Amino acid sequence: MRGLNGKVAIVTGSGGSIGRASALRFAAEGALVVGCDIASDAAEETVRHVTAAGGTMTSIHPCDLTKRSECDRLVAAAVKEFGKVDVLLNNGAMAYFAWIEDMDDDAWHNTINEELNLVFLLTRACWPELVKTKGAIVNVASISAWQGLQLLPGLAHTAAKGGVLSMTKQLAMEGRHHGIRANSVSPGSIQTNQSRFKPGEPGYDEWCRIQLGRAMMNRIGKPEEVAATVAFLASEDASYITGEDIAVDGGIRSW
Ligand SMILES: NC(=O)c1ccc[n+]([C@@H]2O[C@H](COP(=O)([O-])OP(=O)(O)OC[C@H]3O[C@@H](n4cnc5c(N)ncnc54)[C@H](O)[C@@H]3O)[C@@H](O)[C@H]2O)c1
Repeated sequence: MRGLNGKVAIVTGSGGSIGRASALRFAAEGALVVGCDIASDAAEETVRHVTAAGGTMTSIHPCDLTKRSECDRLVAAAVKEFGKVDVLLNNGAMAYFAWIEDMDDDAWHNTINEELNLVFLLTRACWPELVKTKGAIVNVASISAWQGLQLLPGLAHTAAKGGVLSMTKQLAMEGRHHGIRANSVSPGSIQTNQSRFKPGEPGYDEWCRIQLGRAMMNRIGKPEEVAATVAFLASEDASYITGEDIAVDGGIRSW
């Protein structure tokens, strides 16, 4: 399993659940991983996990990707450490949830900033390096880009992830001249730090009944299952796939 051997891969939100699983998977496939996160302790822990597993990883933290200068700093650090960037995984994000009646301006704008704008800022910063390597972009969208979820007050989140989804197609189109591929994954309900309800919490049973009940597989997904799809899209195995989205949702979108 060395599908990313020698590739330099930036993983954003590497301290988080899907980010950590992706960093571990990339490293297991031979990638040299450059993590980053606004949360330093979590980012450092991921480096420890990857290193303990025999992988190669460096990390820039704290790093707030909503700031252009931080995006530039991250790309420069990747090039300084490993000489190039082959893969950009735009995974890190933060959403703020409220039904429309209660959605204040800050919740709206912060979600767009921290879920959508940061993808644009880092991709633009990374673009010249990806041109040089004919690289691959993988963006983490969401089931929320495709449909409303009954229990999720996700108006801003749907708008931001819808933006990520459609921006990916445009990036694929603009990248075609340079050999850059751009794809996205749309996770459904994944058990992570950002999960709306955790086992035992009020609302968890209803979430399982209604939300997981919509999944053909009738269970919550694992970060590793998202990471496996991300690694495939980043690798040469996906050499004829661009502008595409893969749902990692246990079948919700198809039912
Ligand atoms: N958990 C789910 O069910 C689910 C479903 C669909 C999509 N997603 C998406 O998966 C991705 C990963 O989320 P997760 O579930 O692993 O959550 P997570 O909270 O474990 O990970 C997100 C990480 O991003 C970091 N981050 C947030 N804002 C940042 C910024 N401005 N700069 C740098 N780092 C920042 C956080 O500190 C965190 O470590 C997100 O894009 C999320 O929207 C998750």
